[in-house]
Amino acid sequence: MGKTMTEKILETHVVEGSLKRGGEVGIRIDQCLTQDSTGTMAWLEFESLGMSGVKAELAVSYCDHTSLGFKGESTDDHVFLQSIASHYGAKFSKNGNGVCHQLHYERFGVPGKTLLGSDSHTPTAGGLGVLGIGAGGMDVAVAMGGGPFHLIVPKMMRIVLTGALPWGVAAKDVALEILRRISVKGGVGYFLEFTGPGVENLSVPQRATITNLCTETGATASIFPSDEVTKEFLRMQGREEAWHALFPDPDAVYDKTLEIDMATLKPLVAMPGMPDNVYDIDEVKGTKIDQVYIGSCTNGSYRDIRIAAEIITGKRVSPNIDVIVSPASRQAWEMLMADGSFLALTKAGVRLIEPGCNACIGIGFVPGYGHLSLRTVNRNWKGRGGSKFGKIALCSPEVAAASALAGAIADPRELSPLEVKVDHLTVDDALILEPQGTAVEIRRAPNIVPLAPQRPLRSPLVGTVLIKLGDGVSTDTILPAGPLTQHLRSNLPEIAKFTFYYEDKEFATRAAANGGGFIVGGENYGQGSSREHAALAPWQLGIKAVFAKSYARIHRANLINVGIIPFICDTDRIDRDDELEVDVADLTGELVADNRTKDERIPLSHDLSPREIAMIKAGGLLAYTAAQHR
Ligand code: F3S
Repeated sequence: MGKTMTEKILETHVVEGSLKRGGEVGIRIDQCLTQDSTGTMAWLEFESLGMSGVKAELAVSYCDHTSLGFKGESTDDHVFLQSIASHYGAKFSKNGNGVCHQLHYERFGVPGKTLLGSDSHTPTAGGLGVLGIGAGGMDVAVAMGGGPFHLIVPKMMRIVLTGALPWGVAAKDVALEILRRISVKGGVGYFLEFTGPGVENLSVPQRATITNLCTETGATASIFPSDEVTKEFLRMQGREEAWHALFPDPDAVYDKTLEIDMATLKPLVAMPGMPDNVYDIDEVKGTKIDQVYIGSCTNGSYRDIRIAAEIITGKRVSPNIDVIVSPASRQAWEMLMADGSFLALTKAGVRLIEPGCNACIGIGFVPGYGHLSLRTVNRNWKGRGGSKFGKIALCSPEVAAASALAGAIADPRELSPLEVKVDHLTVDDALILEPQGTAVEIRRAPNIVPLAPQRPLRSPLVGTVLIKLGDGVSTDTILPAGPLTQHLRSNLPEIAKFTFYYEDKEFATRAAANGGGFIVGGENYGQGSSREHAALAPWQLGIKAVFAKSYARIHRANLINVGIIPFICDTDRIDRDDELEVDVADLTGELVADNRTKDERIPLSHDLSPREIAMIKAGGLLAYTAAQHR
C-alpha cells in the first residue's frame, strides 16, 4: 500500500508504538521552536526536568509576540529567553527579526523533518514540506530534551489543487475556501496533505499561508510536497543543500478528499466571529472599515507586502482609516526597503511596524468600540485584537490593500492586474544568535517565577462547578492575551488571576475561596491558540477536572500535561454551583459524577491512553517524565 507524505515522515521518526491510524505513537522531534509568549514557561519547564542541555537537532527561541517590549516585564522575559537559550544550547532570534513561523521556514526548515513548536501555527512550516506540529510548552520542553512527542495518528485528508490563481485571488482565499467548506472543526483528527497539478503554481510563501490558516480547521498539521519550487526557494535562501524530495505515493490512501480548482475562486472575507464565517467579496463589498493591518505569520512574506505596495503605490489610503504594514521577517523588511515599497507605502499614508506579532494579539493597534478591523491575520474571534468591543475580518493582502484605498471592503479585481515576481531573496541572519554554553548566566527578573511542583492525583475529586460555558470556548476566553496579561506569562500566580476575565471577573476569586473546583464547557472546548497558560492558570487555581462534550487537540493535551482530567459527558445535566464528586481511583473503570446538588449520577467517559492515565496519576507530564528518569 502506498504512503502519504505524512506517513513517510512519521515512519522514519517513530520511537514508540506503531503507525496505525487512531493509535497513539511516540515520535522523535528533529527541531523545536518556542516564542516569547509561551517560551518563558516552556524553558522554565525544561529547567524543571533537570536537563543538562538541548538534545534535539535544533531548537530556536524566538522573540516576536511582544517584540516592542510594551512593559518592563516583557523586556525581562526577552533577556531571560536570550540567556537561557544560550546557556542550554538553543539559537536565539532577537526582537525585530520577525515572526517565528515565517523565520523558521525561511532560515531553518528542512523538508521531511519533524518540528514541534509551542505555538499553534507551527504547521506553517508544512509549506516547505516540514511536518510541523503545535503543542504545549511542556511537550516542547520534553522534545528539546530529546524525549518523544506523543500523538494519536490522525486520519489523512487530501486536498487536490488544480488550476492557477487568477488576478486578485490569493493563497489566502484557497485557505478561506477550505475553511468555508469544512469549518473550524472539519480538520479535527486529520493531517491535511496538498497534492495535484495546482501545487506547482504556488510559491513556498503562498503554500505557507495555506498551511498557516489551515490550523484553524483544527487539523494536527498540513503539508505540501517538497518539489522543484521548494528547491528553488531554498536556493534563494542559500540553503539548497537542505532540500529533499517529498511526494505521496501515487496509491497513497486517504480518508477524505477535497478538490479545489483555484482558477474558479473569488476573493473571500471571513467576517467577525470565526475564521469559517466566510463570504464572497460580492456579499460584503462596501462594508465600512476602520483599520487595515497587512502582515502576521499568515501574510507577512515579501511577496504579500510587495503586492499590497504595488496596489497602493501612487495613491493615498482613505483618510478615514488607519493602515499598518508589518512584514513577518527581517528578510522581507530589508527587501521592501531596498525596492522602494516602504517609501511608496509611507507616501500613501501607511504606517510601518517592525517585524513581529504585536498587533496580531492586541499589543497596539487595538480596534475601537464597534470598529471593524480588516486584517490579513488568521484569527477573528471576540477579543483577539485586544478588545472585545472591536471586530476583526480576515482577508488577503490584495483585498486589504484595495480596501485601504477605498475605506471599505473592496474587490481588488476591479483594479488593474499586477504581478510580483520573486527571483532573489536577501539573507541576513544578524539577529540570530548562536548559543554560547553553560558559562552564560541565566538572567531572571523577579517576575520570572518557577513552577510549583506537580502533585499526584488524589481520589475522590470533590468540588463546586465554578463556571458553565457553551460550545467553542477558545483559549483566548479561558485566559485572555493582549496587554492585560502578556507581561505576566512568566508569573503563573499573577496571570491566573485573569482566568475567564472577560467571561466572569470573579472566577479567580471564587476559585480561591473554594480551594479550586470544576469547569464545565461544551463542544470543542479549548479551541484556538496553543496557549498552555489556559491549562496552567486553572491548575494554579486548583481546578481538578473539566467536563465538556469534546476538546480541541492541543488544549486537551495541555490539560493532561498539568494533571487536569478532561472528562467527556452530557454537560446539559450540570449547572454552575453544582457540587460534584468523582471517584478517580480507577480511571479505567466505570466513571460517574455524583451531582450532590441535583442528586443525580452522570456517566462520564474520557479518551485517555494508558500513558496519559499514568501522567494524570503522577500529577502531570513533568512529574511523569521526572519519575521515568529516576
Ligand atoms: Fe504571531 Fe499572530 Fe502568528 S500572534 S505567531 S503573527 S498568529
